[in-house]
Amino acid sequence: MPQGENARPAPRSTSGAASSDSHSALGSAVSTIVLAAGEGTRMRSATPKVLHPIAGRPLVEHAVRAAAGTGPDDLVVVIGHGRDAVGEHLARVADDLDRKVHTVVQDQQLGTGHAVACGLTALADQRHGTVLVSYGDVPLLDTATLTELLAEHHERRNAVTVLSAVVDDPTGYGRLVRDDAGQVTGIVEQKDATAAQAAIGEINSGVYAFDATVLSDALDRLSTDNAQGELYLTDVLSIARSDGHSVGALVCADTWLVEGVNDRVQLARLGAELNRRLVLGWMREGVTVTDPASVWLDCDVALSRDVTLEPGVQLRGGTTVGEGSLIGPDTTLTGCTVHPGASVVRTHGEGAEVGPGASVGPFAYLRPGARLGEKGKIGTFVEVKNSEIGTGSKVPHLTYVGDAEIGEGSNIGAASVFVNYDGVAKHRTVIGSHARTGADNMFVAPVEVGDGAYTAAGSVITQDVPPGAMAVARGRQRNIEGWVARRRPDTAADQAAQQAQERSGSDLTTNPMSDTR
Ligand code: UD1
Ligand code: CA
Repeated sequence: MPQGENARPAPRSTSGAASSDSHSALGSAVSTIVLAAGEGTRMRSATPKVLHPIAGRPLVEHAVRAAAGTGPDDLVVVIGHGRDAVGEHLARVADDLDRKVHTVVQDQQLGTGHAVACGLTALADQRHGTVLVSYGDVPLLDTATLTELLAEHHERRNAVTVLSAVVDDPTGYGRLVRDDAGQVTGIVEQKDATAAQAAIGEINSGVYAFDATVLSDALDRLSTDNAQGELYLTDVLSIARSDGHSVGALVCADTWLVEGVNDRVQLARLGAELNRRLVLGWMREGVTVTDPASVWLDCDVALSRDVTLEPGVQLRGGTTVGEGSLIGPDTTLTGCTVHPGASVVRTHGEGAEVGPGASVGPFAYLRPGARLGEKGKIGTFVEVKNSEIGTGSKVPHLTYVGDAEIGEGSNIGAASVFVNYDGVAKHRTVIGSHARTGADNMFVAPVEVGDGAYTAAGSVITQDVPPGAMAVARGRQRNIEGWVARRRPDTAADQAAQQAQERSGSDLTTNPMSDTR
């Protein structure tokens, strides 16, 4: 995955002067605690807030991946509301990352200070090294910023380094209070702020690096004597400062990175911004995107050079697209593999594979296990499920292919159905190579059409067709002469028929060759 837009100017250091006592040193243990126990009431959802996804990943997974990227010795997630579902998802993320992710349950949400104290219980040694704290609902924060925060923290030998941001509207956030010399003295919550403090535009992102000893000591001394009656993690800063420790801030210039999700409006806003960065990143990697705003990509898609994404394309769930392929307009692919030089137009696909130089759509539906070979074609109003269509084979129009295997160079006639379901079980159809099946065929599975065989239009194929044979399976046509004149006299049809007969100067006769063609 490319970095996306890295337009973020380097964060500005406003840390206090290095204090003489070194609380943490580079190379010492780093633990990360991600806070994710909160309820997220404003989402108004049966799903825990941190499991709502953007760019194909739950919020908490973004946070955990960013934290894991810094390579911490221990990675702890504090969970509470929706603990079962969140815990289950985190187990999958741990598997994916191939690393241990501890979870600690915070039963009651008594405040961010309490949450971090809970998180610390997962650590073998709570009093050594550095503790990085971040939130499970801040999805755009990246590994690079966390790494910069740690570097700043270590370089300045701070006891606490907070990631701050200067925003236009600081409403709801804690404000960074600095002294006349510009040194950080503490954080005041909105609800506890004086009018002068509320006017401060520099906010607490909620992300910090702490010296473990200073953190542990200060957490023991937190009080609930504040407007919300909570144990505020933010009070650690003033406690550390009054104990004579060095407290600093790293200002994050890209304010998107520190924005949290509290409701669905913010979920959409951050989702759109993450998408914008992903699309931009791929354009920089050589992908043409005609209309970036209408293209939606998950974090885990992989695109190659000279891929073109037309308007209205969504690529989800690990979809990969090979060099030079054209996707769209109006195509959604989830978990699909598109090989180089293919074209997939106005298509909905899931778990399908499109071979090199193959063509799909417009208006195709690819379901799981659909596999189209090199230079093959799945055309208009065609649905394919759990079927392999070989090299150069074509299913051009109005057809359902289910549970089938089609060899190479075969052509399936328009409006055919692979009748795979007898009401109880699914059965397979096998079509050989270089076969030509007629339009409007039913292949009643299990059935096999041999290599080089033909089938007649309108056939219901219930028996195997040997290689090279022509199968005809339909009623013979019979023409009942003069039926309209007798049974529908004086209708428009009757008049038209009479005129035709007069023009041709004779009665129409039956064509003896019209039975099978
Ligand atoms: C907190 C900060 C505030 C900062 C803001 C940034 C405090 C006291 N205030 O405020 O200075 O500007 O974040 O977004 O820290 N959580 C738990 N357990 C708890 C409480 C919270 O896990 O007991 C988690 C929440 O799920 C959430 C995060 O901690 O992910 C922040 O909690 P929230 O209640 O949103 O804090 P704010 O009041 O927004
Ligand atoms: Ca919040």
